[in-house]
Amino acid sequence: MLDLDPRDNALNAYDRDHMFHPSTHMGMHARGESPNRIITGGQGSTIIDRDGRESLDAFAGLYCVNVGYGRTEIAEAIAEQAHKLAYYHAYAGHGSEPSIRLSKMIVDRAPAGMSRVYFGLSGSDANETNIKLVWYYNNVLGRPDKKKIISRWRGYHGSGVMTGSLTGLSLFHNAFDLPRAPILHTEAPYYFRRADRSLSEEAFSQFCADRLEEMILAEGPDTIAAFIGEPVLGTGGIVPPPAGYWDKIQAVLRKYDILMIADEVVTGFGRLGSSFGSTHYGIEPDLITIAKGLTSAYLPLSGTIVSDRVWRVLVEGSDRLGVIGHGWTYSAHPLCAAAGIANLELIDRLDLVSNAATVGAHLRKALRDGLADHPHVGDIRGEGMLASVEFVADRDDRRFFDPADKVGPRLAAALAERGVIARAMPEGDILGFAPPLCLTIEEADRVATAVHGAVSAVLPTR
Ligand SMILES: Cc1ncc(COP(=O)(O)O)c(C=O)c1O
Repeated sequence: MLDLDPRDNALNAYDRDHMFHPSTHMGMHARGESPNRIITGGQGSTIIDRDGRESLDAFAGLYCVNVGYGRTEIAEAIAEQAHKLAYYHAYAGHGSEPSIRLSKMIVDRAPAGMSRVYFGLSGSDANETNIKLVWYYNNVLGRPDKKKIISRWRGYHGSGVMTGSLTGLSLFHNAFDLPRAPILHTEAPYYFRRADRSLSEEAFSQFCADRLEEMILAEGPDTIAAFIGEPVLGTGGIVPPPAGYWDKIQAVLRKYDILMIADEVVTGFGRLGSSFGSTHYGIEPDLITIAKGLTSAYLPLSGTIVSDRVWRVLVEGSDRLGVIGHGWTYSAHPLCAAAGIANLELIDRLDLVSNAATVGAHLRKALRDGLADHPHVGDIRGEGMLASVEFVADRDDRRFFDPADKVGPRLAAALAERGVIARAMPEGDILGFAPPLCLTIEEADRVATAVHGAVSAVLPTR
């Protein structure tokens, strides 16, 4: 049972009284009006809490525990490195063996044309790095006005000041005075929610590309530095791009000499059933953001993969300006890098990228088998080991529920009661699934059966 009583023991009281939880209703948590759950262990795709209750984690934490829980190989690699050298910085040409080896492993797996890896600790700080590199790049090229960055509504790129601005979800802007200039947002590639329902997928992709070009022309192409996008919209609703989208978008970017940043924090290292989302969709990025799946969250590690094209200009910059004034104390942390190496080796050894493709496809089929005809199911979609089910008040009119009805959160809670964790995505009534890449067919079936049960309970058809 979820523990709702803040006074029943000391740990719960400490939690309510002293811990400031991210993305949590602060008042309800502090007053004990919302459930808290203290997780104590995990194995494979299953987690366990301190009351001994197990759940199948169909969101892999925050789509990050890609190899699953309890991998001793990674724990041992971290311990071994900690005994040898827990920390040294990477400033002024210093390094550690694991961070250098991991850079090579990343570039070997990355799409063609990539050159160097700059390490950070979170997806947010990696995107901060990207913004700075884009500005530096244009300053070195003598284009001081080319600084604006175009993101998409429903994109998620972090929750810092600039990265929260890149994020195109109002929850992450409200009362924070975001978004900040010079960030702009263009149309979300969200076919199910297109305003003109007569459009085919290709026509909607063209519409998105046209909207982007209109924005570039209205702002002035000489002011637009970069475009950032997730290969598949993640937190915005788990929405694969409509047919032809990335080709059409990239044609516009090339026309106006605008850099392409592929935010692969979710899609990097196998989640789509391909090593990167960029290769999956034919994106040719100038910068790639990586995090989550790089270490499967055994330790925090992120990175910016810099293309040859950008790297050459950065080098020209330091030849002119000297040392690059950008660094974090924990950049290229040896323990995190050791976790990254062990994690990537495990992904290869267990062939988890192809498992993501086959079991992910099975999961979507199993979800469809029980839900495709349900009058409140508007869309079932996904790619690789990503899936989502979007719920509507009326399917024929594509009328959405009132957000105050909290249909998505109620569905996620009903699913949790059935032992499966999915995420109620923040905008719309959408259940999101991003299980560990090691999910089995039997576990995928358990997820689908629990979803069918939760939907029947929350949205009965009669
Ligand atoms: C696509 C994408 N970019 C960036 C981030 C931010 O990563 P972090 O939470 O590690 O700062 C996330 C987090 O979910 C993400 O999904």
